Amino acid sequence: MFTPDTLTGKSILVTGGGSGLGLSMAKGFASVGANVAICGRTEDKLKSAAAEIQAVAQPGVKVLTHAVDVRDFDAVGVMMKRLVEEFGSLEGLLNNAAGNFLAPSESISPNGFKSVVDIVLHGTFNCTQHFGNYLIDSGRQGSILNIVTTYTETGSAFVLPSACAKAGVYAMTTTLAYEWGTYGIRVNSIAPGPFPTEGAWSRLLPTKEIQEAYLKKVALGRVGKHEELANLATFLMSDMSAYMTGECVTIDGGERLSGGEFNLFVTNFERKTLKDMFNAMRPKK
Ligand code: HXC
Repeated sequence: MFTPDTLTGKSILVTGGGSGLGLSMAKGFASVGANVAICGRTEDKLKSAAAEIQAVAQPGVKVLTHAVDVRDFDAVGVMMKRLVEEFGSLEGLLNNAAGNFLAPSESISPNGFKSVVDIVLHGTFNCTQHFGNYLIDSGRQGSILNIVTTYTETGSAFVLPSACAKAGVYAMTTTLAYEWGTYGIRVNSIAPGPFPTEGAWSRLLPTKEIQEAYLKKVALGRVGKHEELANLATFLMSDMSAYMTGECVTIDGGERLSGGEFNLFVTNFERKTLKDMFNAMRPKK
């Protein structure tokens, strides 16, 4: 479906691109010709990720890294300015950076709720507004892709801050798709189901027993391959999808059809066992 120049001429920023799904999608973009910038909180992680991206990139592709916490509006602005200077222009933004943890909602601290909402919702706003202003001021067209979740619509037990924040990101997708459509800015989102990563798996499916129960929810009976997600992201970033905006594409092997992603905890496990397990995962003061 793609050719080596599917994204040639585009420069794309991937937030949270130093590992996991962000890194896989960044590799996908560079492998079909896009210049790619990845940002995240840890410089060392970004440097080794950049080497991985460069290794699969088309010849001549530039890969940049920028250490930033997407919660910091001004620092995001500094990053955006630098990337435009170094690439010459910026055509794509993939809002992938996220935070999440499992916890009974009645025991989440205000700061725990705020941390996730700050990263997911405010972080997405910070990057999107800076990018949108750049595009509008320079009269350029661009594409914004937001990573949401399959529980954006249904909600899900034990991930309250993430469910609330991702629903907000979905609202940002549809709101801005219409408002900024007139500038030629497209805004879409992807709701990925189970694509194993170190970060998400250890936090959200911490035991073998839970992983087995979870897999039974997936209609296709298997987890996703990172390449499958990267292909969808590449399509949505490319001009092949030039008439799509305000859309959310789910890629989850049918997982969402069995109900809120982590509702299985409510039906399959004792509440007391869960509380003990989730509390053990909570950072110690
Ligand atoms: C209860 C918790 C907690 C836990 C953190 N907190 N972990 N509360 N249970 N397991 C609380 C802390 O006690 C603290 O509140 C507050 O959250 C902030 O924690 P910090 O560690 O100080 O904050 P910070 O360093 O900013 O970390 C943010 C984070 C962390 C979201 C809490 O987990 C993180 O950085 N995550 C990034 C990577 C990640 O989460 N990846 C997974 C995304 S995948 P107090 O009150 O004590 O100060 C995803 C896809 C879903 O979302 C689908 C998968 C199948």
